[in-house]
Amino acid sequence: MPKKLTNLTVIILAAGEGKRMKSALPKVLHPVCARPMLGYVLDLVKQLKPKKTITVVGHGRHQVEEFLRGARTLVVRQKKLLGTADAVKQALARLSGSSGTVLVLYGDTPLLKAGTVEQLLDAHAKSRADITLLTARMDKPAGYGRILRDKYGSICGIAEEKDADDFQKETKEINTGIMCFNTRSLKEALKLIKPSPRTKEYYLTDAISILYRRGGIIEGVVLEDAQEAMGINSRKELSVASSLMQGRINDGLMERGVTIVHPPSACIAYGTRIGRDTVIYPFTVIERGVKIGNRCSIGPFIHLREGTTLGNEVVAGNFLEVVRSSVGAKSFIKHFSYIGDSRLGRSVNIGAGSVTANFDGLKKGNTVIGDNAFIGSDTVLVAPVKIGARAKTGAGCVVTRGKQVPPGSTVIGIPARPLVKKHTR
Ligand code: UD1
Ligand code: CA
Repeated sequence: MPKKLTNLTVIILAAGEGKRMKSALPKVLHPVCARPMLGYVLDLVKQLKPKKTITVVGHGRHQVEEFLRGARTLVVRQKKLLGTADAVKQALARLSGSSGTVLVLYGDTPLLKAGTVEQLLDAHAKSRADITLLTARMDKPAGYGRILRDKYGSICGIAEEKDADDFQKETKEINTGIMCFNTRSLKEALKLIKPSPRTKEYYLTDAISILYRRGGIIEGVVLEDAQEAMGINSRKELSVASSLMQGRINDGLMERGVTIVHPPSACIAYGTRIGRDTVIYPFTVIERGVKIGNRCSIGPFIHLREGTTLGNEVVAGNFLEVVRSSVGAKSFIKHFSYIGDSRLGRSVNIGAGSVTANFDGLKKGNTVIGDNAFIGSDTVLVAPVKIGARAKTGAGCVVTRGKQVPPGSTVIGIPARPLVKKHTR
């Protein structure tokens, strides 16, 4: 049994500006598969069950704090972005005493898995080291701090890319940024960290050489899958991380019995629930919080937006947008439609080209369609509007605002009026 750490504090660094993103949005809030990258780090921390979690915010802090609302973390402000060591220092001010372990995570590494961090914590607990680092080997290590080892192979420092010499830059072993510390050793090292002469920043990574020189124990755990430790600094890296995360989401859905015909064109948000034997056809965009039942047929070419719930055996697509709507079991919306702010019953058929006109320029209105209703091709339903169960609309009909089409009746024309059956002799 691995030795468990009972007195664990997690510090998440999320104050950086993310200059290389060239964005008004703080870097850690940039979404990866529709979830801000900081969210993935919070999920991971939840699994570790630490005694305390402290998130350091700074750049764009109001937005980041808004996102953190409700999360189980203390929030500490870093007034000036003086580097990762300064950020950790701000968090440590909230820790009374020097016992226990501090784990430092970065808000910009969304692919990291909880199991990996648990291994690191186990190794740290076993070796009783002052610091245990998570390292990785990369063929192209550009941008990362390089791990320096002494002649015995022990880690003795980290050279930041910006400050490294050509020889150090050759090193393929990098610092993932994920480290755990004996709290007392961390506090001592922080006091001694000086700003980098080149960038004037205080680097947390300097703690390693400082503790090494003082005879501290420094351990390293090498990460098998280096991609997990990928730090997102640019839009390009964001896109790479997003496609890796999408792969994980798709794999998870397929494991649970969902067919994804062409995974590269399935953009499915993190946290989407999709039932067994549902088939996702190519070019499908599914946003956050969407729920899809069993045995559905989704796409090709479909955009399911927030607040969409589809019952079992729904056929949705081609060329369809649905937002803030629920669709009952066995309903068909098979060809180019827009369904917004609507509630559709069971076995509803929406004909080709029909739309719910839910917005009058000022406010949105709701559309309700009863069970077994049949909406003819090219119908426009001007919300608020109600179509009774088993009712029918003729092709090209416009049901105007405020109308209630009685159950079982048929309406036709513009504006829609009841169909009067002519009696022929
Ligand atoms: C950092 C590491 C580098 C490592 C890489 C892994 C340092 C000095 N360097 O470099 O060795 O290989 O991560 O991805 O630690 N932050 C703050 N306050 C600050 C500065 C940064 O909270 O004043 C936060 C950022 O929001 C970010 C994290 O710290 O989440 C890392 O900062 P970043 O600027 O991305 O560091 P890198 O240059 O990537
Ligand atoms: Ca980074």
